[in-house]
Amino acid sequence: MLNIIIFGPPGSGKGTQSAKIVEKYNLVHLSTGDLMREEIARDTPLGWEVKKYIDKGMLVPDEIIMRELYEKASEHLDAPGLIFDGFPRTIVQAEMLDQMLEKHKMPIDVVLSVDVSEEELFQRLMGRAEDSGRSDDTAEIVLHRIEVYKEQTLPLIEFYQKQGKIVSINGMSPVEEVFGKITTAVDTYLETREIIPAIE
Ligand code: AP5
Ligand code: MG
Repeated sequence: MLNIIIFGPPGSGKGTQSAKIVEKYNLVHLSTGDLMREEIARDTPLGWEVKKYIDKGMLVPDEIIMRELYEKASEHLDAPGLIFDGFPRTIVQAEMLDQMLEKHKMPIDVVLSVDVSEEELFQRLMGRAEDSGRSDDTAEIVLHRIEVYKEQTLPLIEFYQKQGKIVSINGMSPVEEVFGKITTAVDTYLETREIIPAIE
């Protein structure tokens, strides 16, 4: 199995790169953001609940995220591997994920941390806002999402650095180039079980 986390601020390209990674390595894509948006689109009570947080650019409570993630992940335990996109986002989520994976003897192999400047994140998301239909792609909420990322999610870098799993990927280049850096990191890991700490 190959289990990857793709980690980075809003607009860093997690979804874009996940689609390419899934295709190349035959993994199952688990995006908690997509799961929440599907729930909202289905107009369920859970959808109404999570919409309150998403529309403000706040994190959805850990209990809800973990419940939905467990349910989805358990459908795919026999897959060649999983890629977690936009999850975990808090230390609590990361610890619970480790417990879940330990139980199934399927640890996280690599954490891809995609770095992009705040100016570029803002430009990309304002570009995407024109046709994304996402209620959280407005200037004010995008800025708030970036702040929430810095406060609540960035500490996870240290969490995974301690586990020796972080690869820092410079995400300030065109999509195909960023993907090339990612495949270098993943292929090196598959061949040697070594983590390249950073790829410029
Ligand atoms: P989520 O859906 O995870 O959104 P996000 O983290 O804010 O990130 P985005 O999806 O906006 O960006 P991305 O990194 O995927 O970039 P993309 O590839 O689209 O979360 C949304 C909300 O759900 C959260 O705010 C929270 O409320 C809730 N939530 C989700 N998970 C949660 C969790 N675990 N815990 C608690 N709450 C949770 O690219 C962006 C744009 O840039 C696109 O237009 C793309 O075409 C373009 N682009 C991509 N790469 C490049 C490139 N290299 N060069 C130029 N343009 C590029
Ligand atoms: Mg995304």
